[in-house]
Amino acid sequence: MRNYKVDTLIKEKDIKKRVEQLGKQISEEYKETDKLIVVGLLRGSFMFIADLVRCLEIPVEVDFITVSSYGSEMVSSGNVKILKDLDGDINGHDVLLVEDIVDTGKTLEAVIEMLETRLPKSINVCALLNKQSRRTSNIQANWVGFEIPDEFVVGYGVDYDQRNRNLPYIGKVVQLKKALK
Ligand code: IMP
Ligand code: MG
Repeated sequence: MRNYKVDTLIKEKDIKKRVEQLGKQISEEYKETDKLIVVGLLRGSFMFIADLVRCLEIPVEVDFITVSSYGSEMVSSGNVKILKDLDGDINGHDVLLVEDIVDTGKTLEAVIEMLETRLPKSINVCALLNKQSRRTSNIQANWVGFEIPDEFVVGYGVDYDQRNRNLPYIGKVVQLKKALK
């Protein structure tokens, strides 16, 4: 039973087009790199990173990090903990952090601060979605797929209480008064 519906916000074909553009721009930016370590923040970035790395025309390593999430709440606790660290070493390498949504920016701020202590050559951020109006940290992604309003969204890797990650598009959650079966 769920008491919400999902209205399409960004169509699958529009995501595909935008990811291809991002892939071109990022490949251009890193055309001189010996290796770009693309770090996905789990779990929300898994679908985006899978599509994005297929659009990169440079040498790439893929790694993942898990930080604590919102749980089943729709608001940020502001507490960020590393739950699963990177497998590889980023020292002296170019790093691209891939995030699903930048909301307050607290997650990214904490992750960047932690990764910087390992002395990478550079760290940039590519976020699929940006909720600029919600920002409380002084953090900006270097590449953003789509600017979105202050709505709770799901799909294309992004969840609401661990559901809806499998949707091939991005939709906004609309609460209903009566429960749906
Ligand atoms: P921040 O630390 O406030 O920037 O939170 C970013 C994280 O919150 C994202 O990586 C998402 O996991 C989660 N988040 C923010 N907005 C949404 C949303 O609309 N739907 C699902 N998760 C969200
Ligand atoms: Mg996340």
